[in-house]
Amino acid sequence: MSKTPAMSQMKDRMEKAAKMKDEDKLYKREGILYSTILSPPETLDKLKELEAREDDLILVAYPKCGFNWMVAVLRKILNASTGKDEKPPERPPLVEFLPPDVQEKLAEMPPRRLLGTHLPPDNMPPSFFTKKPKILVVFRNPKDTLVSYYHFMNKNPLLPNAESWDKFFSDFMAGEVPWGSFFDHTLAWEKRLDDPNVMIVTYEELKQNLPEGVKKISEFFNLPLTDEQVSSIAGESTFNAMLENSQKSHGNFGNIFFRKGEVGDWKNNFSDAQSKQMDELFQAKLAGTNLGARLKYDLYCQ
Ligand code: A3P
Repeated sequence: MSKTPAMSQMKDRMEKAAKMKDEDKLYKREGILYSTILSPPETLDKLKELEAREDDLILVAYPKCGFNWMVAVLRKILNASTGKDEKPPERPPLVEFLPPDVQEKLAEMPPRRLLGTHLPPDNMPPSFFTKKPKILVVFRNPKDTLVSYYHFMNKNPLLPNAESWDKFFSDFMAGEVPWGSFFDHTLAWEKRLDDPNVMIVTYEELKQNLPEGVKKISEFFNLPLTDEQVSSIAGESTFNAMLENSQKSHGNFGNIFFRKGEVGDWKNNFSDAQSKQMDELFQAKLAGTNLGARLKYDLYCQ
């Protein structure tokens, strides 16, 4: 099979990563760490010009909050609602991974485009707000997010290995991880909760009732589904169903993106002192905020 540009680019990126020292795999820009290979400065600069459209589907999540899960759900919703049977594109929809020439080609994509990002709202392409596309933001409790991130760093060759659990714990708490601080992301979204084009969902509520989540998301994007479609999409999007299909859907990245898919795995990893330290940070940063309440910290993190 001949290689497509996206496949060649992935191969190049992997080869580059294999030759790169861990300490060179991240760089800092305006206080936030980014992947040197995936999101070099010219890519992030170019994002400022990206033109969103009102009918785009924008998906936002801090890393490890369920982004790839929701990409699959959104694609299924799009296909079911429009009657199309489009195969997933070869590139993930993360705009900060698209080199400038590929960003330019987004203008040629037919509607409705699915665009995603892990960037905090103030660093997203400004047109994501000015053109008023609908934005779905996925959150997850910070303790499980941290555990998931730790394993991801160790399995993803494009990112440096976490030196140790304790070191990664401190880095996460300090926001010294790719895409910055979980807590700052959350606080930045807190300021935009009144935006009618923004809908928040949480990993935990999706785990608890996926059919309801699928229905809510499809209605938000104005992509109506029948009850049968809702239940079939939810059935195909459980962790086990996606894990089984992951080699086909994500190739070698399948076992990197689909690990345990559980709520509460943090209890197997956090020491009592670390748990207490995060409780204090949560209290200091997010207690009393609407999003803080939405995360149901007491239920999922204590
Ligand atoms: P764990 O590492 O805790 O298993 P992201 O896609 O943002 O990188 O998030 C990855 C996390 O979402 C991983 O968490 C992964 O297992 C989980 N995940 C992926 N698909 C899922 C699904 N269908 N249901 C529940 N969790 C899922």
